[in-house]
Formats: sequence, C-alpha cells, structure tokens
Amino acid sequence: MLSQFQFVLSSYPKVKSIIIAIDGYSGCGKSTLAKALAASLNYRYIDTGAMYRAVTLYFLENNIEIENAQEVASALENINISFHVNPSNNQTDTFLNGEDREVAIRTLRVANFVSPVSAISAVRKFLVKQQQLMGDHRALVMDGRDIGTVVFPDAELKIFMTANDEVRIQRRLDEMQSKGQLGNYDDVAANLKTRDLIDTSRIDSPLMKAADAIEIDNSELTRDEQFELVYNMAMEKIQNGGAPQKTSSY
Ligand code: DC
Repeated sequence: MLSQFQFVLSSYPKVKSIIIAIDGYSGCGKSTLAKALAASLNYRYIDTGAMYRAVTLYFLENNIEIENAQEVASALENINISFHVNPSNNQTDTFLNGEDREVAIRTLRVANFVSPVSAISAVRKFLVKQQQLMGDHRALVMDGRDIGTVVFPDAELKIFMTANDEVRIQRRLDEMQSKGQLGNYDDVAANLKTRDLIDTSRIDSPLMKAADAIEIDNSELTRDEQFELVYNMAMEKIQNGGAPQKTSSY
C-alpha cells in the first residue's frame, strides 16, 4: 500500500527545471523574449552577447592587440564579468570588473568590434566555461549564438529566432534610443550585415541552428504572440521533461 507521502509524490505533476536556449541573428528580439520568459518562469536570464561585449570593451579601453595571443590571454585573466539588478529600472546591468558598464557595451563602437573579438577561440573558451557554470542548477534562459549548439547542447528547449532585415534594423535603433543613444539607420544596417557575416562564418562555434532547435520567424509576430508561443512550449517541457527541480518543496 502507498504511504501518504508516496501518494502525494506519485500524483504530483512532473514539474522540472529546464534550460531554454535562444539563438539567432543580431536584432531578432532574442533578449526581449528571453527576459519575459525568465521573469514569468522565475528563472535566471543570461544575455551572453553582453559578456562578449564586455570583453570587447575591455580590449578597446586597454588597447589589446587581438592578433597577439599572449596579450589576449593575459587580458582575459584580468576580466571579471557579473550581472546585477539596477534598482532604478529593475533591469539587469552588465558589470565589468565591478563597474556598471551597461551603457558603454551597447554603443556602436563596441558593436563594430565585437564580432572579431568573439571569433577568438581563447575568448570563447573563457566565456563558455562561465556560462556552463551558470546552468548548474538549470532553471535558466540564456540567449546568444551558440547556446543550443555548444554551451548547452542538452538544453531541453532550443529556439532559433529569425526576422527580416528591416525589422531587425528598426529594433536595434529602438533599443539604442531607449538607452539614450542616437543611431543612424545606415550605420546600424551595415553593422548588422557585417556581424551576420562574421558570426556565421567564423571557424569556432559559428552561428547556426541546432538540429533539434525550433525556428521562429518573428517578423510578423507581436511580442505577446511570440511570448505565448514559446511559453507554451516551455511549459510542456517543464511538465514532461528536464532535470529534477532542485528547488522543489516536496
Ligand atoms: O546579442 P548581441 O548582439 O549583443 O551579441 C554581440 C556579439 O557577440 C554578436 O555579434 C556575436 C557575439 N556573440 C557570440 O559570438 N556568441 C554568443 N553566445 C553571444 C554573442
């Protein structure tokens, strides 16, 4: 006969903690979706693009010669990246060596240099290791370019997002404007085009859709429609798959 405790366990829905990997081109709205999902699931959200941007900012400010492997290796030893909630807007800001550099990492100066920096294997190795540690307890939404292929190939839900160029450029301009920066349409368009090319053609971890990722073109979707679509997919995985939830109360 089942004890009362066993009965409660066996009749409880299989609630699990999962990792949601969201990859795609720049300006496809990955972070908007990832943030909303994390907030509603009470999961942690990590913007890995911000980590590549922080390394890029450090290299620019310290005149690191990116072709010099020794210089790159010593620079990485001096880089500490962390995320903290900004109480003024409740958003998560990126800190580089203890300083809030959220605004500085979003400038076009950084955007123009981030793809060559993220093509360096030593940089990728350095950041991927930290990203994998963040997934130790699962319950994580992470966005980037190689999350479903390299960082978490075992993620329970993988989304590959696309959108048409016009929509992507406008979203990037809106994002810059919301951070108090004036972006020029042609400059943003050129930057996205160059980054697409470098991100998809680099040798180490190029941007590509994982075989088991679900592709979503959100050009014609509202934020709410997109959220609902992916939230339902996540709930299905949470109820039927994933690792045992470590924070479970039973
Ligand atoms: O998501 P984003 O536009 O802020 O990313 C900035 C750059 O960082 C992007 O052009 C490529 C690189 N990146 C990467 O190579 N791998 C990731 N997981 C995330 C970003």
